[in-house]
Amino acid sequence: MRYLITAALPYANGPLHIGHLAGAYLPADIYARYLRLCGHEVLFICGSDEHGVAITLRAWQENTSPQAIIDHYHPLLEASLREMGISVDFYGRTSDPLHHRLAQRFFLRLLEQGWLEKRTVEQFWDAQAGVFLPDRYIVGTCPHCGYTEAYGDQCEKCGALLTPTDLLNPRSRLTQSLPQKRPSTQYYLRLDALQPQLEAYIQERQWKPNVEPVIQNWLRAGLASRPITRDLNWGIPVPLPEMAGKVLYVWFEAPLGYLSITQKWAEAQGDPKAWELFWKDPSTAIVHFIGKDNIVFHTLIFPAVLIAAAEGYTLPTAVPAHEFLTLEGQKISTSRRWTIDVDAYLRHAPHRIDELRFVLTALMPQTRDRDFTWEEYATRINNELLATLSNLIHRVLTLLWRLGPEHAAVTFMPLLEARVEAARTVGRRLEAYDFSGALEALLALAQKANKHLTEAAPWHQKEAEARLTLAGFIDLLAALGTLLEPFMPVRIAPTLRRYLNLSLFPWSELERPELLIRQLRLSGPPQPLVPKLTATELAQLRAQLLPAAPSEPTAKAPSTKPQESLQKLSMEDFRKVQLKVVTIQAAEPIAGTDRLLRLLIQAEDGLHTVVSGIAQHYKPEELIGKQAVWVANLAPRALRGVVSEGMLLFAETPQGQLVRISPDIPVPPGSPVK
Ligand code: 2FM
Ligand code: ZN
Repeated sequence: MRYLITAALPYANGPLHIGHLAGAYLPADIYARYLRLCGHEVLFICGSDEHGVAITLRAWQENTSPQAIIDHYHPLLEASLREMGISVDFYGRTSDPLHHRLAQRFFLRLLEQGWLEKRTVEQFWDAQAGVFLPDRYIVGTCPHCGYTEAYGDQCEKCGALLTPTDLLNPRSRLTQSLPQKRPSTQYYLRLDALQPQLEAYIQERQWKPNVEPVIQNWLRAGLASRPITRDLNWGIPVPLPEMAGKVLYVWFEAPLGYLSITQKWAEAQGDPKAWELFWKDPSTAIVHFIGKDNIVFHTLIFPAVLIAAAEGYTLPTAVPAHEFLTLEGQKISTSRRWTIDVDAYLRHAPHRIDELRFVLTALMPQTRDRDFTWEEYATRINNELLATLSNLIHRVLTLLWRLGPEHAAVTFMPLLEARVEAARTVGRRLEAYDFSGALEALLALAQKANKHLTEAAPWHQKEAEARLTLAGFIDLLAALGTLLEPFMPVRIAPTLRRYLNLSLFPWSELERPELLIRQLRLSGPPQPLVPKLTATELAQLRAQLLPAAPSEPTAKAPSTKPQESLQKLSMEDFRKVQLKVVTIQAAEPIAGTDRLLRLLIQAEDGLHTVVSGIAQHYKPEELIGKQAVWVANLAPRALRGVVSEGMLLFAETPQGQLVRISPDIPVPPGSPVK
């Protein structure tokens, strides 16, 4: 069978974070690798999404041009994906002229087919800047929760979906002025008229349980025409003279990127027509991996565009959407710096790439949001990956190596059956987009094997008997070299195969009820596949990748310096200061200063970030695990771009040395100081 696999085109306005990996790129990769091992023809494409307000806003915030933003992030995104082992066959970009031409052609085709209508509507206009304001360029007070910095399309505080006219006291993010209304002409896609065809399409396909209700809600409410052009100076020009200065809406053209990137791939193959096999042959399955916020665009709007073009395009076969990954209980947010960026992880833990893949697969938000914590990262690595899989492999390989490099394999029925069953289960679960379930089946297989090994205890057996026992494990090791590949293809699966001198097997071989190999030749003394993640390594990693505490969306640094006061404090005033004992979990210097350390502290209610001017007095590692006194209720303030929540107290010696203040004996983190 032929498959086109896509993963959401990431906006080229920032780095990827672990939520993106867990929600789209990793499942797409596991799926693609598995299908390739099954012998299917697979094309896995992705690329940068380089238009829309996501890009212009970033450029405006950084005081640079959209072009500079995309040229910076496009290569970074591709590099992060490749280093994480995401096996995209072709990584394109929507700023490509081929994509521009294709999107414009689609617009004209839809117009010609009668699916577009022109409407003049009132839109917000910034008179000072002389531009129309897209929804995200308008802020104001949320009518639901009173948050004063809600965006025109959504309140980030309470999550309500808004339109700019819902906002109380709206103002332009560009000039802070009161937006005016002005008429503007846009083209609308007649989704209402396409609804019957979309309903038929939706009914024909199978949808994941977290996707179907979203689609049905939209259909039940009745689809409305949606504008597919925008007043913006960055994007694909609308190909009509009367629309000069306007661009195609990013969500109209970005999904067409899947098509244009396939065409780009075909050109690169020297076979420009090869894309048609993937888009015009109904026997090809098209599978889009995306996050839940993109469901409507992939299941309704993109299919509507393909249907409306009436040129025989294959509609998406499946849209396995994922829910969100949270980080230590909070929504991941790049703007609030509550994130673990993939490129930062790759820099600090280049030897732990498969480990991250393992943890994120175990925590994949398949049908509900899941939470990533550093504690769980460590536990999953040490207690599952290492204790179950890596230990099994290491124990067997070490014992075999001690007996010599050459071994005959023998049939050990319980393991043979377990291997056949596991290969089937893993395959079945992957085909149902149950990635963590597939990983669980692998762990269960290893657990079973560990049990047999412990029961047989070849280390207590005489040599001939031990040889025989271990020969029964060879088939399983050989299978693991392939079974692990979709999940941990960067280092772990290839290293195992190298020890075994084996290449990948086709997946169907793994279901063979006979031995996979008769003879094993080991290549050398084995090292454990997964080194233990020590508390020090974890603390270090955490400190290096430490997300700053999530600030209020608009936390601003105070504009004036606090005044020193010689006045006497009343008891009432003093009681306002909340002092607590906290434990320092991680510490790291802040780049560009030799004075500041960023500290992650544990209180009774979770972790907080504090910036302390103590880098001249303490090395980060001297502080980790120590207790200190924290002023918990200071207003947050930003120091060198890091939001500090409160401060830690130090005594100052006459020589100006700062000395940590801590309780006599350790107390539970968060204990009040009275
Ligand atoms: O949500 C996002 O990050 C979008 N850039 C995804 C686009 S997917 C496709 F339609 F291009
Ligand atoms: Zn709100």
